[in-house]
Amino acid sequence: MKFFVDTADIAAIRDLHELGMVDGVTTNPSLIAKSGRNIAEVIREICELVPGPVSAEVVASDAAEMIREGKHLAQIAGNITVKVPLTLDGLKACRALSDDGHMVNVTLCFSPAQAILAAKAGATFISPFIGRLDDMHLDGVDLIADIREIYDNYGYETQILAASIRNVNHIIEVAKIGADVITAPPAVIKSMANHLLTDKGLEQFNADWAKTGQKIL
Ligand code: E4P
Repeated sequence: MKFFVDTADIAAIRDLHELGMVDGVTTNPSLIAKSGRNIAEVIREICELVPGPVSAEVVASDAAEMIREGKHLAQIAGNITVKVPLTLDGLKACRALSDDGHMVNVTLCFSPAQAILAAKAGATFISPFIGRLDDMHLDGVDLIADIREIYDNYGYETQILAASIRNVNHIIEVAKIGADVITAPPAVIKSMANHLLTDKGLEQFNADWAKTGQKIL
């Protein structure tokens, strides 16, 4: 399973990168706005740090303009994945950009039907937003299961990028289903290391070790 980090915060990306946990990065217009930085500048910096796919999202609503924006973003670095929304125009742009040799991430997917269209449009990644479905008392994890089953039935090569991940449980559930990639905020990825019994065990080891009066070095 590949780990993408869902942020435009360079320090947070660097921190996780040093842990060897960053296979790629996803951004969106809200995350760029939150960074307070120029999109080209921040995306270039991320691409210099992370060799894997870095998603940069278009903001136009018509296909021709999305294609123009997508090609412009793709010039920033060789590892840019152009992110387009799951609209009819977005699918059209996906087909054109993909035929032109670009990686494309189709985002804001909330149904299996939408995911089929993205695969047929040549998407490299489909981003189903599981947390936002959960927020509406729907089951986001079920959506990943449905898409996995459909993509496997037809051998679609589009990778399932489980997005809008809110907690460790989301990651475990989509890992069991076979999502190809997860994208999550840095804090959620780091919290995967936490376990009460690890803390308790370490405390005990340290206390027992102190009684021996020994030093390893
Ligand atoms: C995915 O690419 C999106 O940037 C992201 O996962 C959205 O997550 P949110 O619903 O927590 O904003």
